[in-house]
Amino acid sequence: MALLEIDDLGVSFATNDGEVNAVNGVSLALDKGETLGIVGESGSGKSQLAFSIMGLLARNGRARGSIRFAGQEILNVPASVINPIRANRIAMIFQDPMTSLNPYMRVSDQMAEVLTHHRGMGKAEAVAESARMLDAVKIPDAAGRIRLFPHEFSGGMRQRVMIAMSLLCRPELLIADEPTTALDVTVQAQIMSLLGELQSEFGMATILITHDLGVVAGFCENVIVLYGGRVMEKSPVDPLFASPSHPYTRGLLRAIPRVDHEGDTLDSIPGSPPNMTRIQEGCPFAPRCEFAIPECRQFLSPLTEFAPGRWRACNRSLEDIA
Ligand SMILES: Nc1ncnc2c1ncn2[C@@H]1O[C@H](COP(=O)(O)OP(=O)(O)OP(=O)(O)O)[C@@H](O)[C@H]1O
Ligand SMILES: [Mg+2]
Repeated sequence: MALLEIDDLGVSFATNDGEVNAVNGVSLALDKGETLGIVGESGSGKSQLAFSIMGLLARNGRARGSIRFAGQEILNVPASVINPIRANRIAMIFQDPMTSLNPYMRVSDQMAEVLTHHRGMGKAEAVAESARMLDAVKIPDAAGRIRLFPHEFSGGMRQRVMIAMSLLCRPELLIADEPTTALDVTVQAQIMSLLGELQSEFGMATILITHDLGVVAGFCENVIVLYGGRVMEKSPVDPLFASPSHPYTRGLLRAIPRVDHEGDTLDSIPGSPPNMTRIQEGCPFAPRCEFAIPECRQFLSPLTEFAPGRWRACNRSLEDIA
């Protein structure tokens, strides 16, 4: 049994302009210890997919389909079911650490509280364990600095504090939603390599959400490419980079800066992301796709396995887009 199984997930929001369909028929499975990247441009539904797993959709949001964690349904279940799972078995880190850190509490108090609440530890033991975790995320002088307030840490160090906090309960699944986009490039690389080390040390399954395929390359075994809330391509990372099977994935790959191609201009994908308020009959990427034919605006073929472990949703054949 997979650790996480998502079946035909749909997420929509009621707005004054009509219904926004943020996630449309997404299915995926994640094994214990697996690293999965979820990639797509802004607005493709990445965060809403993550929020659905965490039971954190906004009030005007509605989710359909099924999400099972260790065999148990966790979508649209009462708080009494999802809360213990969210507290102990699934952790999420956000782009902005201040979303989950309390600015008015010392780091020692907020970290220790997690352990006294959920693990029943005494305060002294909880603070000591928290300091050990700060040490594990390579915060220098962890035992001393644990007494500081969040704003007394730099952006990169604050992100480390949040990672430490998310690992306190030894989650089986870690969801990292754009964990490094707010940081400068050098610090980004440090945080990603730290996450990689922690992932192998703690062995938790990890979903890494990013708009940057380059970040996925160094970190993930498998990747899902989302567009307009739909899965366009699903593949192990290496073959996806070697031979992307979807026109959208190719566009994303052309937009990655490469050190060996200094001076090249980056090709961003022409056109803009889809309007999610219209119900899309066809392929959401069709209006921007150089290979689109009239039927692409009418329907989208389902995800189809075209090589072992490699799936694509595209009306055109691989030869057509070669
Ligand atoms: N509460 C809401 N009400 C209405 N629409 C919403 C709401 N929350 C999200 N959306 C819409 O859902 C779509 C998907 O949003 P989502 O946050 O998942 O994008 P994303 O892929 O995470 O983008 P980014 O890379 O910018 O974080 C967007 O069109 C967004 O505007
Ligand atoms: Mg997002």
